[in-house]
Amino acid sequence: MGERKRIGILTSGGDCAGLNAAIRAVVHHAVGTYGWEVLGIRQATQGLIERPPKAINLEINQVDSWLAIGGTLLGTTNQGNPFAFPMPDGTIRDRTEDIIAGYRMLGLDALIGIGGDGSLAILRKIAQQGGINLVGIPKTIDNDIGITERAIGFDTAVNIATEALDRLHFTAASHSRVMIVEVMGRDAGHIALCAGIAGGADVILIPEIPYTIANVCNRLAERNQQGKSYSLIVVAEAVRKDTGEPAMTTNRLGQSRLGGIGQYLSDSICACSGAETRVTVLGHVQRGGTPSPLDRLIATAFGVAAVDLIAEGKYDQMVTWQRRQVFSVPIAEAIANYAAVDPNGTLVKTARGMGISLGD
Ligand code: F6P
Repeated sequence: MGERKRIGILTSGGDCAGLNAAIRAVVHHAVGTYGWEVLGIRQATQGLIERPPKAINLEINQVDSWLAIGGTLLGTTNQGNPFAFPMPDGTIRDRTEDIIAGYRMLGLDALIGIGGDGSLAILRKIAQQGGINLVGIPKTIDNDIGITERAIGFDTAVNIATEALDRLHFTAASHSRVMIVEVMGRDAGHIALCAGIAGGADVILIPEIPYTIANVCNRLAERNQQGKSYSLIVVAEAVRKDTGEPAMTTNRLGQSRLGGIGQYLSDSICACSGAETRVTVLGHVQRGGTPSPLDRLIATAFGVAAVDLIAEGKYDQMVTWQRRQVFSVPIAEAIANYAAVDPNGTLVKTARGMGISLGD
């Protein structure tokens, strides 16, 4: 069984469905199989900055019911980069030494970080600086982390977007409308492409493939000629306007985020085709709710594998899903290989083979 370890686990970056399933698996395997202790750290690295550090002891009985619960019961944040952390007095400070000290105060032998590429890059840098034994688990609805075919949360997001398309299909047909669905995914078009194919979209626009409004309108006109008076369009949030400008919204604090491409397309398509258009922005609905069976499965497999990596003393590794199996790769390698949609890949070919326009 080896020495009794005390390990920490945290979730970092945007939440998604399946995070609690991964935490549950880590606790089950670490406590049940190896007899270790597991501390759940609150609010990502924020929990290690607090004094005393904010962490709770996790037991099997406590996490048993977590499998199907959405979000993360440990809390998370995608704000406050620890290298340039905004302090209450308005100053900016590097908090990495505080995080490392928090890890030591808790007496941790290793840390499991569940995050996307941004979070894993930050955690890795801190781990290198502080000699923290880090193991990464990939999560993101965007599914854009390199080397792994799947990240926790992606499948649930695709399911939600597909269900939205299924529902919109009927109302689109009833009113002879063009329905535009704007989905998340940051710079990658994976959610749009997968949900678009699975949900029977007529047009799928993704950041990886340039489009023109004229091509989209031609596709709608073709459908009209075939007697189909309605259409479904899926657009990924990072698709740019056809002028090349990004579609962004800015709040009163001057913070900008992706959003608005659906409305832009709606106006442009209405102008060029005369079609009646409506826009649905799915937003954070894609991140919430019950994880799909596949996300639960992957999260559980990742949690078990992450604990085994610690037992083997293999650190600075991220668990990956490849060809139906879990492997591990250096975190640095996963981060360095950003996974956008391959414009010549199987799914793009599938979409084209089905007569779905990609706007090019
Ligand atoms: O990276 C996950 C993600 O949901 C993206 O798809 C989206 O652009 C972003 O996070 C939204 O972030 P926030 O929760 O800060 O609005």
